[in-house]
Amino acid sequence: MNENILELKNLFDASIAKVLDASALDEIRVSYLGKNGSVTGLLKNMGALSPDERKTYGKDVNDLKNYISGAIDEKLIYLNEQALKKELEAMPEFDVSAPVDTDRGSYHPITLVQRQCENVFRTMGFTIEDYSEIVTDYECFEALNIPKFHPARDMQDTYYLENGQLLKSHTSAAQNAIYKKYKKALVEEGKPIRAIFPGRCFRNENTDACHENTFFQMEGVMVDKNISISNLIFFMKTMLSAVFEKDINVRLRPGFFPFVEPGFELDISCLICGGEGCPSCKHSGWLELCPCGMIHPNVLREGGIDPEEYTGFAFGLGLTRLAMMKYGVKDIRDLNGGSLANLAQFTEDK
Ligand code: DAH
Repeated sequence: MNENILELKNLFDASIAKVLDASALDEIRVSYLGKNGSVTGLLKNMGALSPDERKTYGKDVNDLKNYISGAIDEKLIYLNEQALKKELEAMPEFDVSAPVDTDRGSYHPITLVQRQCENVFRTMGFTIEDYSEIVTDYECFEALNIPKFHPARDMQDTYYLENGQLLKSHTSAAQNAIYKKYKKALVEEGKPIRAIFPGRCFRNENTDACHENTFFQMEGVMVDKNISISNLIFFMKTMLSAVFEKDINVRLRPGFFPFVEPGFELDISCLICGGEGCPSCKHSGWLELCPCGMIHPNVLREGGIDPEEYTGFAFGLGLTRLAMMKYGVKDIRDLNGGSLANLAQFTEDK
């Protein structure tokens, strides 16, 4: 090996042995490998050599360069380890062998699916609305074409306050307020109403694996000129395919809800068997997921919107049911149970 190269290698070995911290190591890196560093300097001597000598000289310089950069990397690892060791020694109370605290909180499965739905609808121009859990009889029923003593009220017995207000039995209770909030922009600026409103709902239920007195829904409405059932099908299909991360088939069956006409039950192709038929879908290939329909003219009128000019669709997605399907939760009571052992399994989905 050329004398200059050997000399530089020895010099490097001696200086790196003395280095005690990362910044001194960095200085060495620059002084050897930098643009004006000694290794780069060696190449300047090449001109004086014969072509044959140049070949081996070039290779030797290159080897030295690799050797130096490898040695610096190794030393850096060593120095970092030493620094960490020193830091730990200065804190005797810090026990690196202590078990990790596994009882950290995590996002609730319902929060996870709610956020997924919100993200999809946000990208389609929907606003996300917050609404009170305590509502009036007018908001929850009358404005939705469910007059006093209508039998449809029987399905939605809920908790009443002494002042006559009630805990909302469905997110549809926000519809009237949403129409009133956005009707001016609809009529004067031609801006369609596109809103979703997730929320907690309450019903007087005997609880079992499928029924809870407290659950979550996500209501959605879209109102504009010429809105039709095909718009409804498109939005539902897009949203559900995004949530389940696969192409979801949907079908509509007639269903009665006083605030929509026509009203539907929207089914999705079974997530377990893909439509072939299995015990989960009672061998039908379909799972009932989301009631929906075209907003009843009385409901639009009550919200201050002329049903002769505007039409719209509404849907009431069961977020609790969606979370159970997506995460395979068998008992609805687990979702309100507050057991971290059950709920923390979904953390990685954040
Ligand atoms: N609010 C209804 C319930 O909880 C669900 C529903 C049905 C909502 C049809 C809608 C709809 O928006 O169009 O039983």
